Amino acid sequence: MSTTSPAGAVGRPLPRTEGEAKVAGHAPYAYEQPVRDPVYLHPVLSTVARGRVVAVETAEAQERPGVRVVLTHENAERLARTGDREFAVLQEPVIAFRGQIVAAVVAETPEEARYAASLVRVQERAEEHDVVLTQGHPRLYRPGEEAAPGADSEQGEPDAELERAEVVLDRTYRTPMEHNNPMEPHTSIALWEDSGQGHLTLYDSTQGPHTVRETLSGVFGLDPGQVRVVSPHVGGGFGSKGSPHAHNVLAVVAARALPGHGVKFALTRQQTFSLVGHRSPTIQRLRLGADRDGRLRAVVHDSEEHTSTVKEFAEQSAVCSRTMYAAPHRRSTHRLTALDVPIPFWMRAPGECPGMYASESAMDELAHELDMDPIELRERNEPERDPQSGRPWSDRSLLRCLREGAERFGWHGRDRRPRARREGDWWVGTGVAAAFYPHVVIPGSQARIEYASGCYTLRIGAADIGTGARTVLGQIAADALEVPVERVRVEIGDSSLPQASVAGGSSGTSSWGSAVVAAARAFTEEHGAAPGEGARAAATTPEETVAEDHAVYSFGAHFAEAWVNDDTGEVRVPRMYGLFSVGRVINPRTVRSQLIGGMVMGLSMALHEHSVVDERRGLVVNQDLAQYHVAANADVAGVQAEWLEQSDTRATPMGSRGAGEIGIVGTAAAVANAAHHATGVRVRELPLTPDRFLVETGP
Ligand code: MOS
Repeated sequence: MSTTSPAGAVGRPLPRTEGEAKVAGHAPYAYEQPVRDPVYLHPVLSTVARGRVVAVETAEAQERPGVRVVLTHENAERLARTGDREFAVLQEPVIAFRGQIVAAVVAETPEEARYAASLVRVQERAEEHDVVLTQGHPRLYRPGEEAAPGADSEQGEPDAELERAEVVLDRTYRTPMEHNNPMEPHTSIALWEDSGQGHLTLYDSTQGPHTVRETLSGVFGLDPGQVRVVSPHVGGGFGSKGSPHAHNVLAVVAARALPGHGVKFALTRQQTFSLVGHRSPTIQRLRLGADRDGRLRAVVHDSEEHTSTVKEFAEQSAVCSRTMYAAPHRRSTHRLTALDVPIPFWMRAPGECPGMYASESAMDELAHELDMDPIELRERNEPERDPQSGRPWSDRSLLRCLREGAERFGWHGRDRRPRARREGDWWVGTGVAAAFYPHVVIPGSQARIEYASGCYTLRIGAADIGTGARTVLGQIAADALEVPVERVRVEIGDSSLPQASVAGGSSGTSSWGSAVVAAARAFTEEHGAAPGEGARAAATTPEETVAEDHAVYSFGAHFAEAWVNDDTGEVRVPRMYGLFSVGRVINPRTVRSQLIGGMVMGLSMALHEHSVVDERRGLVVNQDLAQYHVAANADVAGVQAEWLEQSDTRATPMGSRGAGEIGIVGTAAAVANAAHHATGVRVRELPLTPDRFLVETGP
């Protein structure tokens, strides 16, 4: 694509095309879609963490006015066995976690449904449960090679090198269970129309309309052509909407029991804590062996995590240690234990985020041991090629991010000694951490462009979960067609549009944008610069968009200033600065909001986020925003994100790489490192709650 096109939309900070509609309340989110004869669903959830449903008494609920149907495992339709037990909703009386769907009521109003649900008497037989991940849990196992982290990875002789190394650091870091809390909770409206062979419409809050269509048509034994998933606007997802979950299946089961009615199902905030995934807690042991001059000889990164008994999900926490630094001897492993907990799933930068908290904390500890500047330590371990694959980097700009970031943050002249600066009642420190994220392009998305009445309409079933995807795809199309962006209309968020991959793994703009560029090229080739009415062309994201012979990653550097109160241990972060390398920035406004959003979520992880499990009852007790704290306005006094002016055409034809997740990677380490620098207290377990700093420290 030409970077000097007369249109020049790429690179401009255009506001979101749907921004006005959103703030005015005209942009319909899933639950607001108008449907005829709506009915409302409220689920009944298990109250034991493991056991069986012995009996369900529904009579009282059924007799309530307005109640249309009460669903249980006894009367719910039999679903196809897809091998994915998350979707086997109401198929068996087995309880695998607390908060599992065991019944549901559909009624004419949400209030009636909710009240009637409280009258469903579910007799449960509890069995002994285990919901706590402990270090060296007796049932740890190696996840399958098809799981996200893949097999154990080992190069050289890490154990022998650890024995020989001049300096050895052996530390264990812990991250808690965490939950995504998008502002819009998960919602669906399911409508089954019986006429003909039957047709399902689902208005859904999702990161991938086609993903939902594929999965649900499998679960219900339908042809994908019988299913349409509509999702024009989504109020955040962070990964939790990257797949349909049990609630979608339940809504469809209810809709098929009540043909012609739109069954509306909005999860309460509390219900999202057991039904739509969470980040597994991690216990990560990092062993670093280094020379006195800071050159790493060995890196061993072992991560223990939980999964559910329903299905396996592995957080790829140790994968970062395969790529970050040039240690010749390395091993990274993941071990899981299947507990009686809800099913873990994607949460922004699954793996990289908790992994880099541990690994970048360990690097800071090593720098401290060696009395070396932490940026210099990273400089000494800069790999010339990707240590894992041996491939040359397409664009490894980590050191530039660290060095230029240090300048812009004001790192130089920093006194390395911890607990050296005090302002009134506060200890003040600064910290740094690296960030990285793999570049992902998912092949197979299709873009179609059609010309009519002076306007180019781009159609692709992409999802805009608040990222600005709709706007950015229009910019990409405009430049690729060499027309003003005002003449491009974009239609996304509907499975009746051409096939598109999920908005996940920071791959959206890269994957869909590559298809858009290809479609624009096809269009121009076929129709030239003066297309006739109705001219059209389509193209698909090629299988091999990314240069296979290069290692393609984004990088970044986080700097944080932490103030820790001497009396209360409270941690404040008045200043965070991130400098990133994400290739070409297509829209500075939306990319900045992604990077800042990621950093805020990383700060939130550092200071607040912790799903507290009551081990006796097996539930997360702080299951609302009053008690599950996320960073809010007062926490983020000064968060700044910038990027290097670059273009990486090995990554995408636009020169861009993903920017959705890198902002959260390493952020918590930068904050924890700053808190250590402030106080001399090294906390190896998130979040950095005040109590952890109220310990005696030396002078
Ligand atoms: Mo993101 S956690 O890859 O949806």
